[in-house]
Amino acid sequence: MRDKIVAGNWKMNNDLAETEELLGKLKMQMVKEPEATVMVAPSFTNLYPTFQALKGTSVIVAAQNMHESENGAFTGEISASMLKSVGVNTVILGHSERRAYFHETGELLAKKVKTAIDNGMTVIFCFGEELEDRKNDKHFDLVEQQLKEALFNLPQSSWKNIILAYEPVWAIGTGETASPEQAQEMHKHIRNLLNKNVGKEVAENTSILYGGSVKPNNAKEIFAKEDVDGGLIGGASLNAVDFMAIVNSF
Ligand code: G3P
Repeated sequence: MRDKIVAGNWKMNNDLAETEELLGKLKMQMVKEPEATVMVAPSFTNLYPTFQALKGTSVIVAAQNMHESENGAFTGEISASMLKSVGVNTVILGHSERRAYFHETGELLAKKVKTAIDNGMTVIFCFGEELEDRKNDKHFDLVEQQLKEALFNLPQSSWKNIILAYEPVWAIGTGETASPEQAQEMHKHIRNLLNKNVGKEVAENTSILYGGSVKPNNAKEIFAKEDVDGGLIGGASLNAVDFMAIVNSF
Protein backbone atom coordinates (compact mmCIF):
# COMPACT_ATOMS: atom_id res chain seq x y z
CA MET A 1 0.00 0.00 0.00
CA ARG A 2 1.46 3.34 -1.05
CA ASP A 3 1.46 6.34 1.29
CA LYS A 4 -0.74 9.25 0.30
CA ILE A 5 1.35 12.38 0.82
CA VAL A 6 0.79 16.11 0.55
CA ALA A 7 3.94 18.18 0.98
CA GLY A 8 4.11 21.97 1.06
CA ASN A 9 7.22 23.44 -0.56
CA TRP A 10 7.33 26.94 0.88
CA LYS A 11 10.30 27.88 -1.32
CA MET A 12 11.97 31.18 -0.33
CA ASN A 13 9.00 32.51 1.62
CA ASN A 14 8.20 33.34 5.27
CA ASP A 15 10.50 34.86 7.85
CA LEU A 16 10.39 33.52 11.42
CA ALA A 17 7.28 35.47 12.45
CA GLU A 18 5.41 34.53 9.26
CA THR A 19 6.44 30.90 9.73
CA GLU A 20 5.11 30.81 13.27
CA GLU A 21 1.87 32.48 12.12
CA LEU A 22 1.34 30.02 9.25
CA LEU A 23 2.11 27.01 11.44
CA GLY A 24 -0.33 28.25 14.07
CA LYS A 25 -3.05 28.50 11.42
CA LEU A 26 -2.15 25.06 10.04
CA LYS A 27 -2.45 23.45 13.46
CA MET A 28 -5.83 25.11 13.94
CA GLN A 29 -6.97 23.70 10.58
CA MET A 30 -5.91 20.15 11.48
CA VAL A 31 -9.05 19.38 13.49
CA LYS A 32 -8.82 15.70 12.57
CA GLU A 33 -5.96 13.42 11.53
CA PRO A 34 -5.81 13.64 7.73
CA GLU A 35 -5.77 10.50 5.54
CA ALA A 36 -2.61 11.76 3.87
CA THR A 37 0.83 12.17 5.39
CA VAL A 38 1.42 15.92 5.65
CA MET A 39 4.82 17.53 5.16
CA VAL A 40 5.99 21.13 5.18
CA ALA A 41 9.31 22.34 3.74
CA PRO A 42 10.29 25.77 5.08
CA SER A 43 13.58 27.53 4.37
CA PHE A 44 16.69 26.51 6.30
CA THR A 45 16.42 29.28 8.91
CA ASN A 46 12.92 28.16 9.82
CA LEU A 47 13.54 24.41 10.04
CA TYR A 48 14.25 24.18 13.76
CA PRO A 49 11.45 26.55 14.82
CA THR A 50 9.10 24.54 12.58
CA PHE A 51 10.29 21.25 14.06
CA GLN A 52 9.69 22.65 17.54
CA ALA A 53 6.26 24.10 16.64
CA LEU A 54 5.07 20.82 15.09
CA LYS A 55 6.20 18.55 17.93
CA GLY A 56 3.27 16.39 18.98
CA THR A 57 1.68 16.58 15.52
CA SER A 58 2.06 14.05 12.70
CA VAL A 59 3.34 16.73 10.31
CA ILE A 60 6.80 15.95 8.89
CA VAL A 61 9.34 18.74 8.39
CA ALA A 62 11.39 18.59 5.19
CA ALA A 63 14.32 20.62 3.89
CA GLN A 64 14.30 22.11 0.39
CA ASN A 65 17.88 21.13 -0.41
CA MET A 66 21.08 19.64 0.99
CA HIS A 67 24.77 19.44 0.06
CA GLU A 68 26.19 16.16 -1.19
CA SER A 69 29.22 16.25 1.14
CA GLU A 70 29.13 15.26 4.82
CA ASN A 71 30.95 18.47 5.86
CA GLY A 72 33.80 20.78 4.81
CA ALA A 73 34.72 24.02 3.09
CA PHE A 74 31.41 24.66 1.32
CA THR A 75 30.46 28.16 2.37
CA GLY A 76 26.72 28.66 2.63
CA GLU A 77 25.84 25.01 2.36
CA ILE A 78 23.92 22.65 4.70
CA SER A 79 24.74 18.97 5.33
CA ALA A 80 22.58 15.95 6.05
CA SER A 81 23.84 15.71 9.63
CA MET A 82 22.99 19.37 10.23
CA LEU A 83 19.43 18.73 9.01
CA LYS A 84 19.09 15.62 11.17
CA SER A 85 20.40 17.53 14.19
CA VAL A 86 17.37 19.84 14.00
CA GLY A 87 14.89 16.99 13.61
CA VAL A 88 14.69 17.03 9.80
CA ASN A 89 14.92 13.60 8.14
CA THR A 90 13.29 14.41 4.81
CA VAL A 91 14.71 16.50 1.98
CA ILE A 92 13.46 17.72 -1.40
CA LEU A 93 16.10 17.17 -4.10
CA GLY A 94 16.16 17.95 -7.82
CA HIS A 95 13.55 20.68 -7.82
CA SER A 96 13.36 22.31 -11.26
CA GLU A 97 14.28 25.68 -9.74
CA ARG A 98 17.50 24.22 -8.39
CA ARG A 99 18.22 22.55 -11.72
CA ALA A 100 17.56 25.84 -13.57
CA TYR A 101 18.99 28.52 -11.29
CA PHE A 102 21.74 26.55 -9.54
CA HIS A 103 22.66 24.27 -12.43
CA GLU A 104 22.11 21.03 -10.53
CA THR A 105 22.83 18.14 -12.91
CA GLY A 106 21.66 14.54 -12.81
CA GLU A 107 25.19 13.54 -11.81
CA LEU A 108 25.18 15.94 -8.85
CA LEU A 109 21.68 14.88 -7.84
CA ALA A 110 22.74 11.23 -7.82
CA LYS A 111 25.41 12.17 -5.26
CA LYS A 112 22.93 14.18 -3.17
CA VAL A 113 20.40 11.33 -3.19
CA LYS A 114 23.08 8.83 -2.13
CA THR A 115 24.25 11.07 0.72
CA ALA A 116 20.69 11.54 1.95
CA ILE A 117 19.99 7.80 1.87
CA ASP A 118 23.36 6.96 3.46
CA ASN A 119 22.20 9.23 6.30
CA GLY A 120 18.89 7.42 6.59
CA MET A 121 16.90 10.32 5.20
CA THR A 122 13.80 10.26 3.01
CA VAL A 123 14.16 11.98 -0.35
CA ILE A 124 11.37 13.73 -2.27
CA PHE A 125 12.95 13.58 -5.72
CA CYS A 126 11.64 16.12 -8.23
CA PHE A 127 11.74 15.86 -12.00
CA GLY A 128 9.66 16.91 -14.99
CA GLU A 129 9.73 18.22 -18.52
CA GLU A 130 9.84 21.70 -20.00
CA LEU A 131 6.98 22.78 -22.28
CA GLU A 132 9.26 22.41 -25.32
CA ASP A 133 9.88 18.75 -24.46
CA ARG A 134 6.16 18.10 -24.34
CA LYS A 135 5.47 20.01 -27.54
CA ASN A 136 8.11 17.84 -29.25
CA ASP A 137 6.66 14.69 -27.65
CA LYS A 138 9.95 14.17 -25.79
CA HIS A 139 8.48 14.39 -22.28
CA PHE A 140 8.43 10.64 -21.64
CA ASP A 141 12.07 10.26 -22.73
CA LEU A 142 13.14 13.29 -20.66
CA VAL A 143 11.50 11.96 -17.50
CA GLU A 144 13.10 8.54 -18.06
CA GLN A 145 16.51 10.18 -18.44
CA GLN A 146 16.08 12.23 -15.23
CA LEU A 147 15.14 9.15 -13.24
CA LYS A 148 17.86 7.01 -14.80
CA GLU A 149 20.72 9.47 -14.16
CA ALA A 150 19.88 10.05 -10.51
CA LEU A 151 18.00 7.00 -9.18
CA PHE A 152 18.17 3.86 -11.27
CA ASN A 153 21.62 2.97 -9.96
CA LEU A 154 20.27 2.71 -6.40
CA PRO A 155 19.87 -0.71 -4.76
CA GLN A 156 16.27 -1.86 -4.25
CA SER A 157 16.66 -1.39 -0.48
CA SER A 158 17.10 2.38 -0.97
CA TRP A 159 13.69 2.83 -2.51
CA LYS A 160 11.90 2.71 0.83
CA ASN A 161 13.52 6.16 1.31
CA ILE A 162 12.36 7.60 -2.01
CA ILE A 163 9.23 9.62 -2.79
CA LEU A 164 8.94 10.74 -6.43
CA ALA A 165 7.49 14.13 -7.40
CA TYR A 166 6.62 14.65 -11.05
CA GLU A 167 6.50 18.39 -11.66
CA PRO A 168 6.07 19.49 -15.27
CA VAL A 169 8.05 22.73 -15.32
CA TRP A 170 5.42 24.45 -17.46
CA ALA A 171 2.87 23.92 -14.65
CA ILE A 172 4.99 25.27 -11.78
CA GLY A 173 3.81 28.63 -10.54
CA THR A 174 1.90 29.27 -13.76
CA GLY A 175 -1.66 28.34 -12.85
CA GLU A 176 -1.43 26.02 -15.88
CA THR A 177 -2.00 22.68 -14.16
CA ALA A 178 -1.53 19.40 -15.97
CA SER A 179 -4.93 17.82 -16.55
CA PRO A 180 -5.74 14.79 -14.38
CA GLU A 181 -5.39 12.68 -17.53
CA GLN A 182 -1.96 14.13 -18.34
CA ALA A 183 -0.83 13.54 -14.76
CA GLN A 184 -2.11 9.96 -14.77
CA GLU A 185 -0.51 9.22 -18.15
CA MET A 186 2.91 10.34 -16.94
CA HIS A 187 2.58 8.72 -13.49
CA LYS A 188 1.67 5.43 -15.17
CA HIS A 189 4.74 5.79 -17.40
CA ILE A 190 6.89 6.43 -14.34
CA ARG A 191 5.50 3.39 -12.54
CA ASN A 192 6.18 1.28 -15.61
CA LEU A 193 9.76 2.59 -15.66
CA LEU A 194 10.15 1.61 -12.00
CA ASN A 195 8.82 -1.86 -12.76
CA LYS A 196 11.21 -2.30 -15.68
CA ASN A 197 14.34 -0.79 -14.10
CA VAL A 198 13.98 -1.54 -10.39
CA GLY A 199 11.28 -4.15 -9.80
CA LYS A 200 7.57 -4.82 -9.31
CA GLU A 201 7.49 -4.28 -5.56
CA VAL A 202 9.21 -0.88 -5.77
CA ALA A 203 6.94 0.11 -8.65
CA GLU A 204 3.85 -0.77 -6.63
CA ASN A 205 5.01 0.75 -3.33
CA THR A 206 6.67 4.01 -4.34
CA SER A 207 4.53 7.12 -3.84
CA ILE A 208 4.50 9.38 -6.90
CA LEU A 209 3.35 12.93 -6.17
CA TYR A 210 2.18 15.47 -8.74
CA GLY A 211 3.33 19.08 -8.47
CA GLY A 212 2.49 22.13 -10.56
CA SER A 213 -0.30 24.58 -9.73
CA VAL A 214 -2.24 22.21 -7.48
CA LYS A 215 -5.07 24.18 -5.86
CA PRO A 216 -8.13 23.35 -3.74
CA ASN A 217 -10.31 23.36 -6.88
CA ASN A 218 -8.27 20.81 -8.84
CA ALA A 219 -6.64 18.60 -6.20
CA LYS A 220 -9.49 16.14 -5.77
CA GLU A 221 -9.63 15.18 -9.45
CA ILE A 222 -5.87 14.85 -9.76
CA PHE A 223 -5.47 12.87 -6.54
CA ALA A 224 -8.27 10.53 -7.58
CA LYS A 225 -6.15 9.17 -10.42
CA GLU A 226 -4.87 5.61 -9.89
CA ASP A 227 -1.15 6.39 -10.05
CA VAL A 228 -1.23 9.78 -8.33
CA ASP A 229 -0.41 9.41 -4.63
CA GLY A 230 -0.64 13.05 -3.61
CA GLY A 231 0.97 16.38 -4.35
CA LEU A 232 3.95 18.64 -3.89
CA ILE A 233 2.39 22.05 -3.36
CA GLY A 234 4.03 25.42 -3.85
CA GLY A 235 1.99 28.62 -3.77
CA ALA A 236 -1.11 27.09 -2.20
CA SER A 237 0.98 25.77 0.74
CA LEU A 238 1.51 29.34 1.93
CA ASN A 239 -2.18 29.62 2.83
CA ALA A 240 -3.26 27.36 5.67
CA VAL A 241 -6.88 27.03 4.54
CA ASP A 242 -5.94 26.26 0.93
CA PHE A 243 -3.18 23.83 1.94
CA MET A 244 -5.43 21.89 4.29
CA ALA A 245 -8.19 21.84 1.68
CA ILE A 246 -5.69 20.14 -0.63
CA VAL A 247 -4.57 17.78 2.16
CA ASN A 248 -8.20 16.75 2.66
CA SER A 249 -8.83 16.21 -1.07
CA PHE A 250 -8.49 12.42 -0.97
O1 G3P B 1 7.59 22.02 -5.46
C1 G3P B 1 6.26 22.36 -5.73
C2 G3P B 1 6.19 23.53 -6.62
O2 G3P B 1 7.19 23.54 -7.58
C3 G3P B 1 4.83 23.71 -7.27
O3 G3P B 1 4.58 25.08 -7.23
O4 G3P B 1 3.17 27.07 -6.96
O5 G3P B 1 2.86 25.53 -8.94
O6 G3P B 1 2.16 24.78 -6.64
P1 G3P B 1 3.11 25.65 -7.46
